[in-house]
Amino acid sequence: TEQKATNVTWHEGEVTRADRNRLLGQKGATIWFTGLSGSGKSTVAVALEKVLQSQGRLAYRLDGDNVRLGINKNLGFSAEDRAENIRRIGEVAKLFVDAGVIVLSSFVSPYRADRDLVRKLHDDAGIDFIEVYVDVPLAEAEKRDPKGLYKKARAGEIKNFTGISDPYEAPERAELVLPSHQMSLQEEVEALLKLLGARGILP
Ligand code: PPS
Repeated sequence: TEQKATNVTWHEGEVTRADRNRLLGQKGATIWFTGLSGSGKSTVAVALEKVLQSQGRLAYRLDGDNVRLGINKNLGFSAEDRAENIRRIGEVAKLFVDAGVIVLSSFVSPYRADRDLVRKLHDDAGIDFIEVYVDVPLAEAEKRDPKGLYKKARAGEIKNFTGISDPYEAPERAELVLPSHQMSLQEEVEALLKLLGARGILP
């Protein structure tokens, strides 16, 4: 999206991101979960947040419930609206990470270009972006159907439903792939903790 306001520059304070990371004893980073509706993105983010909290780490979840009901309540599910949804979430995540927080973001984020834009936003700011593909077959997600949305989509009651009548572009270079139908929740959390440790996020 184009910059509409001119003569706007980033204002540096006297406390740096490194100072805040030191204060918190961690390195802020964005863990970006992507996958079909019902793949288990939120479930693993909730479990990871709980373990991090118990270890004295500050994490914060961004997901549909706290974003599409608030900051993004004016957006629907067209390709344009999904792109704007993801762009705003990417910017919010970047701010949280600048504050030192470990962000756990769970959105379908079906378009590769939208996710890559968020990755670039982070790369350009020198901030860690860790893409995690929660990879379950469509049949598995549809079998779970926790909100009954696949049923509605098959009946034509929801248009542009990801996996049914709208595309999902799987990541090609995710930092981690979690086939949640073949792993226990504990195994998923362990894999994530191992990766975060290796990346220096949990010193
Ligand atoms: S996106 O594509 O990243 O902007 O979507 P997201 O903000 O993650 O919202 C997805 C959740 O909204 C429900 N929902 C739909 N998903 C996909 N396509 C359509 N058309 C749709 N309409 C509503 C769905 O329950 C998703 O929730 P999760 O938690 O992923 O199952």
